[in-house]
Amino acid sequence: MEFPAVFLVGYLMLSCFAASCYGVTFSSLHKTLIVSASSPLGHVLKAGEDELTIKWEFNQTFPPGTDSTYKTVKLKLCYAPESQKDRPWRKTVDDLKKDKTCQHTIVARPYNPSNNSFIWKVERDIPSAKFFVRVYAYDGQEVVVAYGQNTDHSKTFDLFTIHAITGRHASIDVASVCFSFFSVGSLAAFFYMERRKGKISQHK
Ligand SMILES: *[C@@H]1O[C@H](CO)[C@@H](O)[C@H](O)[C@H]1NC(C)=O
Ligand SMILES: *[C@@H]1O[C@H](CO)[C@@H](O)[C@H](O)[C@H]1NC(C)=O
Repeated sequence: MEFPAVFLVGYLMLSCFAASCYGVTFSSLHKTLIVSASSPLGHVLKAGEDELTIKWEFNQTFPPGTDSTYKTVKLKLCYAPESQKDRPWRKTVDDLKKDKTCQHTIVARPYNPSNNSFIWKVERDIPSAKFFVRVYAYDGQEVVVAYGQNTDHSKTFDLFTIHAITGRHASIDVASVCFSFFSVGSLAAFFYMERRKGKISQHK
């Protein structure tokens, strides 16, 4: 019984050293990116309709070259603590492979130290919750190396409330489906009448 266990532990340790199970922790990352998110509508947005403008740049107070390994960035929509409460499926974990704070990827982009901006239309599948925006920087091996976010460390400042697509939208969808059935139906009826008229005039 003991031998296999020893081998298993040894094997796991080896595979960890081989970097595959080496997880980057959020607390080990430096916040070298300055991120802002804004909307002319304020801090309450509707999924599937409203837009959020996200800007990011390298914080120049870090020594030049700090960002020399940065290759790409990913913009993420992340749950604020208030919307994580009693929801283990949105839990914050320091090991980024297990972290569930930032489940929605907004976009990925090549890294640039400045002049970055992206206008995002809040996607239709975003649930109702409070969010902030985080930008992760990745190196050439796609390992996370830095981050920035539009909120403070305790994630209470500058949050966005998103309202999910509601019953109002659903009923519009249902109405438009009914309407297309109705149009197809009336088109069919129209052709039927025309053919009948045609036949009647032929008989005359
Ligand atoms: C840039 O980084 C410095 C050092 O970490 C920090 O004190 C400063 O607040 C940052 N600037 C912005 C705009 O976030
Ligand atoms: C950023 O954009 C401004 C205005 O478009 C331009 O003057 C400046 O050179 C750009 N900076 C970089 C680093 O590309």
